[in-house]
Amino acid sequence: EKGGYEHFMLKEIHEQPKALRDTMLGRLKDGSVVLEEVDLTLEQLARINKVYIVACGTAWHAGLVGKTLIERWAHLPVEVDIASEFRYRGPIIDDHTLVIVISQSGETADTLAALREAKNRGARVVAVTNVVGSTVSREAHDVIFTWAGPEIAVASTKAYITQLEGMVMLGLYLAQVKGTLPQEKIGEIITALKLIPEQAQEVLNQEDLIKELAQSFVKVEDAFFIGRSLDWAVAMEGALKLKEISYIHAEAYAAGELKHGTLALVTEETPVIALATQRDVYDKTISNVKEVKARDARVIGLTYKGNTNMAKSVDHVIYVPETIDELAPLLTVIPLQLLSYYVSVARGCDVDKPRNLAKSVTVE
Ligand code: M6R
Repeated sequence: EKGGYEHFMLKEIHEQPKALRDTMLGRLKDGSVVLEEVDLTLEQLARINKVYIVACGTAWHAGLVGKTLIERWAHLPVEVDIASEFRYRGPIIDDHTLVIVISQSGETADTLAALREAKNRGARVVAVTNVVGSTVSREAHDVIFTWAGPEIAVASTKAYITQLEGMVMLGLYLAQVKGTLPQEKIGEIITALKLIPEQAQEVLNQEDLIKELAQSFVKVEDAFFIGRSLDWAVAMEGALKLKEISYIHAEAYAAGELKHGTLALVTEETPVIALATQRDVYDKTISNVKEVKARDARVIGLTYKGNTNMAKSVDHVIYVPETIDELAPLLTVIPLQLLSYYVSVARGCDVDKPRNLAKSVTVE
């Protein structure tokens, strides 16, 4: 069952290259995206003037990445909501709205309630889910199944990575139908996406290095994850993983926002994990890294292989293979998952079944 791994989480982390491959299988053909369970025509999409992405926890983090991709590629305004907040803030939903719900289990109570509310108000609902036959998959108009296989560990890993992949493919699909990206550009992104499973494997091959880094977190009480743009979204996922399974307080911050208050908390006692892949904001992120360095924080950088610049400003660097920036989250999350995993093990925590948490949250 655990296939020789000590925990389901570690097994599932290692299953990610396969999960990524399975999820793209048959969906990337001749330079375009084919989503069989999604049937949005140009006429239908032309009506859409607003997108909401609604989800909880890790799935919500995948939605944050989805927002940038859909806005950038399909030129549609997107808001991302936590499902338990969505219904109560009076979102403006009508038949010009596209609602995307993301749920590994397809049974999360708040996500399901949001889906039903959106449908009642006339929205078109696309679900991204990992469980065939789940309530979410049955009730949505369109479905993108993630083919991660059963995820047992409470901490989501392979489901998240395939949700990201689902958002990439949906973003491209919307751009394709709307004609907002040149075919050539779509082809380029698809070529890069096809490389991701083997690049993910390359990241996994650095496991020993990350395990070693994790040892220095055993006594840590607070940690920060910082980044800009898509790196910030992944930072949130990294912080959640660390909190969830190692019980270390962790906070993700938009790097440029630190100096508006939170920087006061950064000392030599607070390690900072700084994600810096997004080329358009790279220099700005490095300026923020220097701000935390100036407070004596130990900084672990995360950037593309081949970038020799970051090492000058931080204490350690973890490298991921180079890809296009929109796909970087598919690689940068892996070291963060491994880091949390090894910190959790080193602290003697119950990795697969963290205290107070359940795999599927079926109460609101
Ligand atoms: O099954 P879902 O994707 O709807 O679950 C949503 C969250 O409960 C889930 O992602 C949770 O945040 C994970 N335990 C995080 O690792």
